[in-house]
Formats: sequence, structure tokens, C-alpha cells
Amino acid sequence: MNVLILGSGGREHALAWKLAGSSRITRLFIGPGNAGTAMIGTNLDVDPENFQSVREAVIKNNIGMVVVGPEAPLVAGLQDFFSKDELLRNIFFIGPSASAARLEGSKDFAKNFLTRHKIPTAAFRTFDRSNAELARSFIETLTPPYVIKADGLAAGKGVRIVDDIDTAEEELKSLLAGKFGEAGKKVVIEQYLKGIELSVFIITDGVSYKLLPEAKDYKRVGEGDTGPNTGGMGAVSPVPFARGEFMEKVKTRIIEPTLKGLREDGIEYKGFIFFGLMNSGGDPYVIEYNARLGDPESEVVLPRIKSDLYDLLEGVVKGDLSSRKIEIDDQCVTTVMLVSGGYPGNYAKGKIISGLDEVKDSIVFHAGTKTAGSDIVTSGGRVIAVSSSGKTMNEALGKSYKNAARINFEGVYYRKDIGFDL
Ligand code: AMP
Ligand code: GLY
Repeated sequence: MNVLILGSGGREHALAWKLAGSSRITRLFIGPGNAGTAMIGTNLDVDPENFQSVREAVIKNNIGMVVVGPEAPLVAGLQDFFSKDELLRNIFFIGPSASAARLEGSKDFAKNFLTRHKIPTAAFRTFDRSNAELARSFIETLTPPYVIKADGLAAGKGVRIVDDIDTAEEELKSLLAGKFGEAGKKVVIEQYLKGIELSVFIITDGVSYKLLPEAKDYKRVGEGDTGPNTGGMGAVSPVPFARGEFMEKVKTRIIEPTLKGLREDGIEYKGFIFFGLMNSGGDPYVIEYNARLGDPESEVVLPRIKSDLYDLLEGVVKGDLSSRKIEIDDQCVTTVMLVSGGYPGNYAKGKIISGLDEVKDSIVFHAGTKTAGSDIVTSGGRVIAVSSSGKTMNEALGKSYKNAARINFEGVYYRKDIGFDL
């Protein structure tokens, strides 16, 4: 079987690395990929959001399975495009339809889904231009800080948390006035949940599911969780509090009602679901759903899966996931993300990366890199994730940090306190 992974970040390199270990795969392609994926598979010049370019690549390379990394092509309907095309219909496709991907693509849809199916989440209300004047009276029913979210995809920048009512109202108005274009036509305002976040992942064939290792991601750019949000500066798995009674609550109050809710709503879901959860006083609440794996969570989750990932993905498509086994490694895995100076604001690209060959005892997952002649250069804000395993989180972190220090490029920055709160 030839497999095509769509995307170009650390998550896709981790997927490629994991799938490359499967004896069931003949050739592995990544579209468009990065300098790291080029070392273990063949990069294709494909834009995942340009469905025709995906179609051509699939047909030309005799692809039998497509695994979608990022959310945008799913929300835009790539799965639906495949299911309607004579030549693509029977290709194994890992990722939900546009209708199912609304769990990520529309916060308003997700919040209504959660409420309808009685899944714990923060109190909320959605506003648009027709009812914005009611926002103040709703906000007054909440206690600060207030959480204001653009409804649609806004590349991780659509959420603001503010302390006073006037700023909350201003933010609502600026979103409705088009700060994020279409994504902000509707705005969700919700109650702030206090607690500690974690990311829980499953794969599902629509009926049964397998729980993947959970992870904790560090989203803020600065140490001690300060400064602006990023795509993620590092991650650890397992998360010490995600066991026993807490995980039972996650299964019975969140995962199972979500799958049941999808079925009741007539929505078929095949692929990964990423539950962004808050542990608030020992009880899990859904902050958000994503229709994909996380990044950098994948760089710690996938190394802990011992089973053949291709076999599990085949179960997703064939609908017999319940008969397949998943084995999880009980080692700790950590990742530290090396980013370009200035990220998540403006940053330079094209900086030569050195020291990659000196890494020992860690896996280097490329995020924003590309090859330029004989060099590997930076091509994004998040550049390299250094993943390591150990008996304890601190042992794994020690390896990640030792190797992170060996890699260099102009302006390189990373947080030195991943795992600090666990
Ligand atoms: P989202 O894109 O919905 O995941 O929101 C981005 C980040 O904002 C989350 O990872 C949380 O850190 C924070 N956040 C979102 N909603 C809430 C909430 N209701 N209470 C507290 N923090 C939140
Ligand atoms: N690291 C968070 C995400 O992938 O959305």
C-alpha cells in the first residue's frame, strides 16, 4: 500500500516516522512535507487545500491511503471531495467529512453540539451582528475573566481572554467588524474555566474507538506560561493526573457521549478526534474539539504507540477498529520546540540549521524546515521538535534539552521549563 500524508509540520513528520515503521506500507509520500519528511519518504509538491493537486498526486502515485494532518482541508471538505470522485472513492481516507469537521471548524456548532448532548463545557452564548447589543447583559451574568472566540478557523489566534466587560465588548465588536474576516462573523462568548489543560486523543471508525496517549501542550511562548499563544512550544506524555477516576470521567462524560452524539445527529466520523480538555477541580470540561492530531502533541503521542499505526488506520476505514489491538508504551516522552526568534510575531526564514547530526538519544522532528542545496534551513516559526523518552518525565526532558542545545540557527529560541507545572 502506498500512503500519502498531507501537511508539512512536526505532526506530519511524526506521522511519517511512525508509519515508516509499518511493514504494510510500500511507499510513503508526504505532501508537501519538509526537510525531515524527505529523509524518510518522498515529498510531493501538493497543496492540501488545493483538492485538484491532491487528486493528481494520488492518482499519479497509486496512493491507497491518505492521512490528513491539518484541519483546513477537512473543514473545506476534502473527504467529501474524495467520496464523490469516481477514481478516489475507494481510497482509504483518514479524516472526517466537512460536516463532522464542524466540531473544529465552528465553535458555535461545537458548543451547541456539547450542550445538546449534555457534555460538560463552559456556559456560552453566540452573537452576530443582529444581536450584538445583547452581549453586555449576557457578559454580566458571567464572572471575569471573559473568553471571546471567533466562530471559525483563525489559525489559533481567534481566542482572547480579557478581564473587564468593556474590553470584552470591544473585542466582540472588532471581531464582528471583520478582524478575522468570515471566521469572525459569529462570536462565542463563554465562561472562563479555571484549571489545568490536557489534550486527549482518540481514533474512531464512527462506532468504536481507541484511546491514544494523552499529552500536555505548552502554548504560551514564554516561560511560566507567559506571553502570547503559539501553536505549541513543547509537550509531555503521559500527563500525571490523567489516570484512574479522572480518565474514567473523560471516557464516560466526554468521549462516549461525543461519539453517541455524532451518531444521533447522523454524522459519520472516521479519523482522529482531539479533545482539548480542562481539568477543573478533578472534573473534565471540553474547551474545544479538533478534527486532527495536535502539534506538538503528536511528537510525544505517536512515539508512545507501540502497535502498527497503519493497522489501526485500516481499522478506521474498514469499520473493524474494535477487533484491532493498541499497545501503549508506559515510558515518558517529552518534546521541546525550537522556534525562530520573534515567533509568534514576525520572524526571519532561510536561516541555516546546524548540529542536527550531533543529536543522540532523541528523535528530531522537523516542523518548519526545507532543504536549500546541501543545507537545511528554517522555513517557519516552529522549526524543530526534539522528542525523547525516559522512565521519568525529567529523564526524557534531560535528553530533549541536551540535544536541543546541540542544534543551532540564528535567532533560535526554546522554553526551558516544559513540564514545569506537573
Ligand atoms: P481554543 O482555541 O478554544 O482551544 O482556545 C485557546 C485557548 O484558550 C485554550 O487552549 C485555553 O487555554 C484558553 N481557553 C479557551 N476557552 C477557555 C475557557 N472557557 N476557559 C479558560 N480558558 C479557555
Ligand atoms: N497544540 C495544539 C494544537 O495542535 O491545536
